[in-house]
Amino acid sequence: MSGSEMKYINEAFATNWIAPLGPNVDAFEKELASFVGINAAAAVSSGTAAIHLALQLLDVKKGDTVFCSSLTFVASANPILYQGAEPVFIDSEPETWNMSPLALEEAFKDADSANKLPKAVVIVNLYGQSAKMEELITICKNYKVPIIEDAAESLGSMYKGKASGTFGDFGIYSFNGNKIITTSGGGMLISNNPEALQKARFIATQSRDPALHYQHSEIGYNYRMSNILAGIGRSQLEVLKERVKARRAIFNMYYQELSCIPGLSFMPELKNTFSNRWLTALTIDEEITGVSVNKLLAALDSENIEARPVWKPLHLQPLFDKNKYYSHNQNMSVSEELFQTGICLPSGSNMTVEDQMRVIECIKKALIG
Ligand SMILES: Cc1ncc(COP(=O)(O)O)c(C=O)c1O
Repeated sequence: MSGSEMKYINEAFATNWIAPLGPNVDAFEKELASFVGINAAAAVSSGTAAIHLALQLLDVKKGDTVFCSSLTFVASANPILYQGAEPVFIDSEPETWNMSPLALEEAFKDADSANKLPKAVVIVNLYGQSAKMEELITICKNYKVPIIEDAAESLGSMYKGKASGTFGDFGIYSFNGNKIITTSGGGMLISNNPEALQKARFIATQSRDPALHYQHSEIGYNYRMSNILAGIGRSQLEVLKERVKARRAIFNMYYQELSCIPGLSFMPELKNTFSNRWLTALTIDEEITGVSVNKLLAALDSENIEARPVWKPLHLQPLFDKNKYYSHNQNMSVSEELFQTGICLPSGSNMTVEDQMRVIECIKKALIG
């Protein structure tokens, strides 16, 4: 926590705004929109809810298809299922670990020739690193298909001088407990279209028609953020830049100490992009190091250090075993390779240098003895 959360929480209590609306919600939306440089933002109960709302605004429904990054957390795709639509998964490319423009183009070509273009494309910015937005936008524009930018992990990151999350027709952020800033649970839907966000707020408040009696003409959800949590969010936003600085410093320390070990490669940062380095991720070439991901995870675990494999690609999940998948090229599934060789290191903004050195020493011991 930043330390000033209680100021906003106390204000909410003093003014009795204990509801999923109120001055903190309005202010948090405005402050976040201004921070990332977008016209409008709607504070909601989670990043997942924000994706779900974006899909509804784009009229995604039963029988539609939606293209989605494969190398991501399941929350990027679950809302596609909520709408009864079918996700088609797109592989990563090696330079950002995010959606491959080559695979996306292939998927579009097939969809076009089958006369069934997707209703939307969900592009994820993994671990803080922005996807190759310019190339991806060009392809989507060519087929006139809107983009939802899943920036749950990349708040505070930049792509060619513009905030990550602001490139799609809609963007989403998450304030889940593990994110770079948190409201314990929460999310934000952003767009340059304020009318669309007004509609999102309507759907997120049970689609209540403007009538004194409770009248409803369409399906709605209870997705708004509470005024107390928005107070936490306002205070967290004040320290976002510091949090990014801390995460990048942690990445730099790992890089400085470990990048010289043959067989280790850190997640790249594409030229003209600035990653918040939400998580420090790297790959291990077992043939060179003689140590597998699982072995390294076990070595860390034995020292009570929690590390994780890279996300298991969604096209490999039992939930999606019938869904289509487009790989980066015929010989190479980048997301599968990253899953087999990737590891995320402890990266919390509050890690001390001693904490970081403890992780580094443990990795050195496991890899070079
Ligand atoms: C890539 C990605 N998308 C979506 C989400 C969903 O956010 P939330 O947990 O706030 O629903 C998360 C994180 O949880 C995420 O990492």
